[in-house]
Amino acid sequence: MYGAELCVYGAELNVYEVNGTEPCVFEMYGVSRVYGAEPCMQSVRSAAACVGVAMCGHYTFPHMTASEFSDNQSDHNADNLKQEKEYEEAMYVFVTVLAALVLTLLRKRFRSRRLCLDPKRLDGKTVLITGGASGIGKETAIALARRGARVHITSHDDQKGEAALRHIKRESASMNVRFWNLNLADLQSIRNFCKEFLKNESRLDILINNDGVPAVLAWTDDGFSMCFGVNHLGPFLLTNLLLERLKSCPPSRIVNITSNIHKYQKLDFADLNYNIVPLFTYCRSKLANVYFTQEIARQMERHGVTACAVHPGYVAGDWTSQFSFLFRIVMYVITSVFFISCQAASQTVIYCAISDDILHHNGGFFSDCKPCKLRPFVKDAGIAKKLWEASEAMVGLTSSAREHLSTRRR
Ligand SMILES: NC(=O)c1ccc[n+]([C@@H]2O[C@H](COP(=O)([O-])OP(=O)(O)OC[C@H]3O[C@@H](n4cnc5c(N)ncnc54)[C@H](OP(=O)(O)O)[C@@H]3O)[C@@H](O)[C@H]2O)c1
Repeated sequence: MYGAELCVYGAELNVYEVNGTEPCVFEMYGVSRVYGAEPCMQSVRSAAACVGVAMCGHYTFPHMTASEFSDNQSDHNADNLKQEKEYEEAMYVFVTVLAALVLTLLRKRFRSRRLCLDPKRLDGKTVLITGGASGIGKETAIALARRGARVHITSHDDQKGEAALRHIKRESASMNVRFWNLNLADLQSIRNFCKEFLKNESRLDILINNDGVPAVLAWTDDGFSMCFGVNHLGPFLLTNLLLERLKSCPPSRIVNITSNIHKYQKLDFADLNYNIVPLFTYCRSKLANVYFTQEIARQMERHGVTACAVHPGYVAGDWTSQFSFLFRIVMYVITSVFFISCQAASQTVIYCAISDDILHHNGGFFSDCKPCKLRPFVKDAGIAKKLWEASEAMVGLTSSAREHLSTRRR
């Protein structure tokens, strides 16, 4: 008996020949083993050569009888059949899971297309949007400026901020837009900005804490983890320093941009600056946004200031710009299929900034222009208060500092 191993890549090899007592009829894909009498193997070799298929091995079994060969062949066939069946089943499972995942993501993508249809105008109102020089913040700024609001945007990059300012003015056809330099990773920059803002602006009706860094492992100059510092402590200090001005313009509101992924982590009060797994540190900073929203809503209840937290949706925005080229290409493909545009993501932010519906959901969490449920551990008022006190200590916020700033308004 003779055997041959054929590497049949992308080709189909059919040998239809009956030679002596051994019939040869083979259809092969991938790497296949064939056995037969030497004349039969010759046919296989010539057929392989004809279609350009490589022979990877050639074996002889001189002591094998015809019945031994036949047993061997049927064992071999049974093993092959079993393997093929297992492979087929694994493929079915894989394809089903993949299809389910794709369908779920597509369903989410097309369902999250709610628009803010509230026609309300904002003439005479002043809006401050942190990080309004790109992404969701910039789209929100355009929409609110179109509605007649005086819009302030911030960026820690002057060039980017000035370019965004020109873009917002052009798109909204409003000259009532102003850019400020603000670095939310720097507590002193926040204090300086608030001083200047309060000195120059007599109103603040809507504060949108939109700024945010993605899942990065870095530290601020003040010694906080970048995510917790920029995404939570910065907006916490800023909001507190502007609170008196918000209170003086009732009904005013605070819109904090968080993310739905806040629910996948819990805060560790022994290490609020947790900075180990990038995604977890981001989740925790976004969870802090939700607790902060609930606590400030509770404190401001009787002062005409409403607060809400917003999940804008997953966006194909500028946030990948600080990652490697390869990562950006991969994310571009994923985000262009499954994620929504910044304009679509700004809809819930705009809705929360203008709609009177949110007055009935003070401290609530919104997504797709509607209130959404929070997990029980996220609604824990004790944790929200504890985080507030810890944050006050971390940013060095005292009630006297707040009072001092509030007296400087015009
Ligand atoms: N993109 C998403 O899929 C997604 C999903 C859920 C939630 N969110 C949240 O939505 C918000 C906006 O995200 P986006 O997608 O529009 O991202 P983006 O385009 O990167 O905008 C983020 C903004 O944050 C500002 N920022 C970053 N570091 C800052 C710092 N140190 N000081 C001051 N500002 C700083 C940036 O301003 P400058 O660089 O100009 O200073 C930028 O304008 C963020 O809070 C984000 O966490 C986004």
